Amino acid sequence: MLKNIEELNGMREAGKLAAEVLEMIGDYIKPGVSTGELDKICNDYIVEVQKAIPANVGYRGFEKTLCTSINQVICHGIPDFNRILKNGDIMNIDVTVIKDGWHGDTSKMFLVGKAQAHNERLINITQECLYKGIEAVKPGAHLGDIGHAIQTHAEKNYYSVVEEYCGHGIGKIYHDEPQILHYGKAKTGQEIIEGMCFTIEPMINLGTKFTKLLSDGWTVETQDGRNSAQWEHTIYVNKDGAEILTLRKEEQ
Ligand code: MF3
Ligand code: CO
Ligand code: CO
Repeated sequence: MLKNIEELNGMREAGKLAAEVLEMIGDYIKPGVSTGELDKICNDYIVEVQKAIPANVGYRGFEKTLCTSINQVICHGIPDFNRILKNGDIMNIDVTVIKDGWHGDTSKMFLVGKAQAHNERLINITQECLYKGIEAVKPGAHLGDIGHAIQTHAEKNYYSVVEEYCGHGIGKIYHDEPQILHYGKAKTGQEIIEGMCFTIEPMINLGTKFTKLLSDGWTVETQDGRNSAQWEHTIYVNKDGAEILTLRKEEQ
Protein backbone atom coordinates (compact mmCIF):
# COMPACT_ATOMS: atom_id res chain seq x y z
CA MET A 1 0.00 0.00 0.00
CA LEU A 2 1.39 3.41 -0.96
CA LYS A 3 1.72 5.98 1.83
CA ASN A 4 0.49 9.57 1.56
CA ILE A 5 2.24 12.33 3.51
CA GLU A 6 0.12 11.89 6.62
CA GLU A 7 0.74 8.15 6.64
CA LEU A 8 4.43 8.73 6.00
CA ASN A 9 4.60 10.96 9.05
CA GLY A 10 3.05 8.15 11.11
CA MET A 11 5.70 5.74 9.76
CA ARG A 12 8.44 8.28 10.49
CA GLU A 13 7.42 8.45 14.14
CA ALA A 14 7.20 4.67 14.55
CA GLY A 15 10.57 4.25 12.81
CA LYS A 16 12.22 6.85 15.02
CA LEU A 17 10.96 5.13 18.18
CA ALA A 18 12.21 1.72 17.02
CA ALA A 19 15.64 3.23 16.26
CA GLU A 20 15.70 4.84 19.71
CA VAL A 21 15.17 1.45 21.38
CA LEU A 22 18.36 0.15 19.71
CA GLU A 23 20.21 3.33 20.73
CA MET A 24 19.01 3.03 24.32
CA ILE A 25 19.89 -0.66 24.83
CA GLY A 26 23.52 -0.46 23.62
CA ASP A 27 24.95 0.55 27.01
CA TYR A 28 23.42 -2.50 28.71
CA ILE A 29 25.06 -5.04 26.44
CA LYS A 30 28.03 -6.62 28.16
CA PRO A 31 29.22 -10.02 29.37
CA GLY A 32 27.10 -11.28 32.30
CA VAL A 33 23.76 -9.76 31.29
CA SER A 34 20.92 -12.05 30.16
CA THR A 35 18.85 -11.58 27.03
CA GLY A 36 15.77 -11.78 29.26
CA GLU A 37 16.94 -8.68 31.14
CA LEU A 38 17.60 -6.79 27.89
CA ASP A 39 14.08 -7.69 26.74
CA LYS A 40 12.55 -6.41 29.98
CA ILE A 41 14.44 -3.11 29.75
CA CYS A 42 13.22 -2.56 26.17
CA ASN A 43 9.64 -3.53 26.98
CA ASP A 44 9.54 -1.05 29.88
CA TYR A 45 11.06 1.68 27.70
CA ILE A 46 8.60 1.17 24.84
CA VAL A 47 5.54 1.00 27.08
CA GLU A 48 6.41 3.57 29.75
CA VAL A 49 8.67 6.11 28.03
CA GLN A 50 7.59 5.88 24.39
CA LYS A 51 3.92 5.16 25.16
CA ALA A 52 4.01 2.72 22.28
CA ILE A 53 3.32 -0.97 21.72
CA PRO A 54 5.93 -3.73 21.34
CA ALA A 55 4.69 -5.44 18.16
CA ASN A 56 6.33 -8.81 18.76
CA VAL A 57 4.44 -9.50 22.00
CA GLY A 58 1.62 -11.86 21.05
CA TYR A 59 2.62 -11.89 17.40
CA ARG A 60 1.77 -15.44 16.24
CA GLY A 61 2.31 -16.62 19.82
CA PHE A 62 5.74 -14.97 20.32
CA GLU A 63 5.92 -13.75 23.92
CA LYS A 64 8.83 -11.31 24.01
CA THR A 65 9.54 -7.75 22.86
CA LEU A 66 12.87 -8.43 21.18
CA CYS A 67 14.37 -11.11 19.05
CA THR A 68 17.88 -11.76 20.40
CA SER A 69 19.85 -13.88 17.95
CA ILE A 70 23.30 -14.88 19.15
CA ASN A 71 26.21 -16.36 17.13
CA GLN A 72 24.86 -19.24 14.99
CA VAL A 73 21.26 -18.07 15.49
CA ILE A 74 20.11 -16.42 12.27
CA CYS A 75 16.89 -14.81 13.52
CA HIS A 76 13.94 -15.02 15.96
CA GLY A 77 16.05 -15.96 18.99
CA ILE A 78 13.85 -15.83 22.12
CA PRO A 79 15.06 -13.68 25.04
CA ASP A 80 15.68 -15.79 28.15
CA PHE A 81 16.80 -14.93 31.69
CA ASN A 82 18.98 -18.06 31.59
CA ARG A 83 20.88 -17.01 28.46
CA ILE A 84 23.79 -14.99 29.80
CA LEU A 85 25.93 -13.08 27.29
CA LYS A 86 29.59 -13.96 27.25
CA ASN A 87 32.71 -12.26 25.96
CA GLY A 88 33.02 -12.70 22.19
CA ASP A 89 29.33 -13.33 21.46
CA ILE A 90 27.77 -11.49 18.54
CA MET A 91 24.09 -10.68 18.82
CA ASN A 92 21.34 -9.24 16.65
CA ILE A 93 18.60 -7.34 18.45
CA ASP A 94 15.45 -6.92 16.37
CA VAL A 95 12.62 -4.72 17.61
CA THR A 96 9.33 -3.52 16.19
CA VAL A 97 7.35 -0.69 17.74
CA ILE A 98 3.75 0.27 16.97
CA LYS A 99 2.81 3.95 17.36
CA ASP A 100 -0.65 5.21 16.34
CA GLY A 101 -1.11 1.94 14.45
CA TRP A 102 2.09 2.30 12.39
CA HIS A 103 4.99 -0.18 12.60
CA GLY A 104 8.73 0.59 12.75
CA ASP A 105 10.93 -2.52 12.39
CA THR A 106 14.72 -2.48 12.74
CA SER A 107 17.67 -4.52 13.95
CA LYS A 108 21.39 -4.19 14.47
CA MET A 109 24.35 -6.32 15.49
CA PHE A 110 26.11 -5.90 18.83
CA LEU A 111 29.52 -7.20 19.88
CA VAL A 112 29.70 -8.50 23.44
CA GLY A 113 33.03 -7.64 25.02
CA LYS A 114 35.88 -8.19 22.60
CA ALA A 115 34.94 -9.67 19.26
CA GLN A 116 37.03 -12.00 17.14
CA ALA A 117 38.18 -10.47 13.85
CA HIS A 118 36.24 -12.91 11.66
CA ASN A 119 33.00 -12.03 13.47
CA GLU A 120 33.63 -8.31 13.21
CA ARG A 121 34.22 -8.69 9.48
CA LEU A 122 30.97 -10.66 9.06
CA ILE A 123 29.06 -7.97 10.94
CA ASN A 124 30.55 -5.10 8.92
CA ILE A 125 30.03 -6.70 5.54
CA THR A 126 26.46 -7.62 6.43
CA GLN A 127 25.81 -3.95 7.25
CA GLU A 128 27.34 -3.00 3.91
CA CYS A 129 24.95 -5.51 2.29
CA LEU A 130 22.01 -3.67 3.89
CA TYR A 131 23.28 -0.29 2.67
CA LYS A 132 23.89 -1.63 -0.85
CA GLY A 133 20.33 -2.97 -0.87
CA ILE A 134 19.03 0.43 0.23
CA GLU A 135 21.08 2.19 -2.48
CA ALA A 136 19.38 0.03 -5.11
CA VAL A 137 15.98 1.48 -4.14
CA LYS A 138 14.49 4.12 -6.42
CA PRO A 139 11.28 4.50 -8.40
CA GLY A 140 11.57 2.56 -11.66
CA ALA A 141 14.09 0.07 -10.28
CA HIS A 142 12.92 -3.46 -9.50
CA LEU A 143 12.78 -5.47 -6.28
CA GLY A 144 15.28 -7.92 -7.82
CA ASP A 145 17.86 -5.11 -7.95
CA ILE A 146 17.85 -5.03 -4.13
CA GLY A 147 18.48 -8.76 -3.78
CA HIS A 148 21.07 -8.68 -6.54
CA ALA A 149 23.07 -5.90 -4.83
CA ILE A 150 23.01 -7.77 -1.50
CA GLN A 151 23.86 -11.19 -2.92
CA THR A 152 26.69 -9.84 -5.06
CA HIS A 153 28.37 -8.15 -2.11
CA ALA A 154 27.91 -11.14 0.21
CA GLU A 155 29.25 -13.68 -2.27
CA LYS A 156 32.18 -11.48 -3.28
CA ASN A 157 33.21 -11.84 0.35
CA TYR A 158 32.68 -15.64 0.35
CA TYR A 159 29.57 -15.45 2.52
CA SER A 160 26.10 -16.85 1.78
CA VAL A 161 22.63 -15.28 1.83
CA VAL A 162 19.79 -16.89 3.80
CA GLU A 163 16.86 -17.47 1.44
CA GLU A 164 13.97 -18.64 3.64
CA TYR A 165 13.40 -15.33 5.44
CA CYS A 166 12.95 -11.99 3.75
CA GLY A 167 12.06 -8.32 4.10
CA HIS A 168 8.46 -7.22 3.81
CA GLY A 169 6.04 -4.43 3.14
CA ILE A 170 5.11 -2.62 6.36
CA GLY A 171 2.60 -0.06 7.57
CA LYS A 172 -0.51 -0.67 9.66
CA ILE A 173 0.24 -4.32 8.87
CA TYR A 174 3.50 -5.71 10.32
CA HIS A 175 4.34 -8.20 7.58
CA ASP A 176 2.65 -7.04 4.39
CA GLU A 177 3.31 -7.56 0.69
CA PRO A 178 5.61 -7.43 -1.14
CA GLN A 179 8.29 -9.87 -0.02
CA ILE A 180 11.77 -8.38 -0.29
CA LEU A 181 14.22 -11.15 -1.19
CA HIS A 182 17.88 -10.66 -0.30
CA TYR A 183 19.10 -12.51 -3.39
CA GLY A 184 18.10 -12.34 -7.02
CA LYS A 185 18.64 -10.98 -10.46
CA ALA A 186 18.83 -7.32 -11.51
CA LYS A 187 15.84 -5.92 -13.42
CA THR A 188 13.52 -8.72 -12.26
CA GLY A 189 10.52 -8.67 -9.95
CA GLN A 190 8.03 -5.96 -9.17
CA GLU A 191 8.79 -2.35 -10.08
CA ILE A 192 9.58 -0.06 -7.15
CA ILE A 193 7.13 2.84 -6.84
CA GLU A 194 7.26 6.11 -4.89
CA GLY A 195 5.23 5.82 -1.67
CA MET A 196 6.12 2.20 -0.89
CA CYS A 197 7.33 1.28 2.61
CA PHE A 198 9.20 -1.95 3.19
CA THR A 199 12.00 -3.48 5.22
CA ILE A 200 15.34 -4.75 4.00
CA GLU A 201 16.89 -7.19 6.47
CA PRO A 202 19.63 -9.39 5.00
CA MET A 203 20.78 -12.44 6.97
CA ILE A 204 24.32 -13.38 5.93
CA ASN A 205 26.12 -16.58 6.94
CA LEU A 206 29.84 -17.27 7.34
CA GLY A 207 29.30 -20.79 5.98
CA THR A 208 26.47 -22.29 3.94
CA LYS A 209 23.06 -20.67 3.47
CA PHE A 210 21.09 -23.56 4.97
CA THR A 211 18.91 -23.08 8.04
CA LYS A 212 17.25 -25.19 10.71
CA LEU A 213 14.28 -24.36 12.92
CA LEU A 214 14.68 -25.39 16.56
CA SER A 215 11.98 -27.30 18.45
CA ASP A 216 10.83 -24.09 20.23
CA GLY A 217 9.19 -23.25 16.89
CA TRP A 218 10.98 -19.88 16.58
CA THR A 219 14.75 -19.97 16.81
CA VAL A 220 16.38 -20.29 13.39
CA GLU A 221 20.01 -21.44 13.31
CA THR A 222 22.56 -22.11 10.62
CA GLN A 223 22.63 -25.78 9.67
CA ASP A 224 26.45 -25.88 9.80
CA GLY A 225 26.65 -24.12 13.20
CA ARG A 226 28.76 -21.23 11.87
CA ASN A 227 27.84 -17.66 12.74
CA SER A 228 25.28 -15.43 11.03
CA ALA A 229 24.63 -11.67 11.06
CA GLN A 230 21.63 -9.46 10.22
CA TRP A 231 20.82 -5.75 10.00
CA GLU A 232 17.39 -4.29 9.24
CA HIS A 233 15.91 -0.94 8.31
CA THR A 234 12.40 0.19 7.44
CA ILE A 235 12.47 2.48 4.39
CA TYR A 236 10.13 4.73 2.41
CA VAL A 237 10.54 5.14 -1.35
CA ASN A 238 10.67 8.82 -2.33
CA LYS A 239 11.24 10.30 -5.77
CA ASP A 240 15.05 10.09 -5.53
CA GLY A 241 15.58 6.85 -3.61
CA ALA A 242 15.04 5.61 -0.07
CA GLU A 243 14.36 7.51 3.13
CA ILE A 244 15.55 5.37 6.04
CA LEU A 245 12.82 5.64 8.66
CA THR A 246 14.77 3.76 11.36
CA LEU A 247 18.10 5.60 11.00
CA ARG A 248 20.10 5.85 14.24
CA LYS A 249 22.26 8.82 15.27
CA GLU A 250 25.42 6.73 14.87
CA GLU A 251 24.59 6.34 11.16
CA GLN A 252 23.96 10.02 10.35
N1 MF3 B 1 11.07 -8.26 13.42
C1 MF3 B 1 11.11 -9.48 12.67
C2 MF3 B 1 11.17 -9.03 11.22
O1 MF3 B 1 12.11 -8.37 10.91
C3 MF3 B 1 9.95 -10.38 12.94
C4 MF3 B 1 9.95 -10.91 14.33
S1 MF3 B 1 8.52 -11.79 14.58
C5 MF3 B 1 8.71 -12.43 16.13
O2 MF3 B 1 10.32 -9.16 10.42
F1 MF3 B 1 7.56 -12.91 16.44
F2 MF3 B 1 9.68 -13.34 16.09
F3 MF3 B 1 9.07 -11.48 16.97
CO1 CO C 1 12.62 -7.01 12.44
CO1 CO D 1 11.17 -7.11 9.42
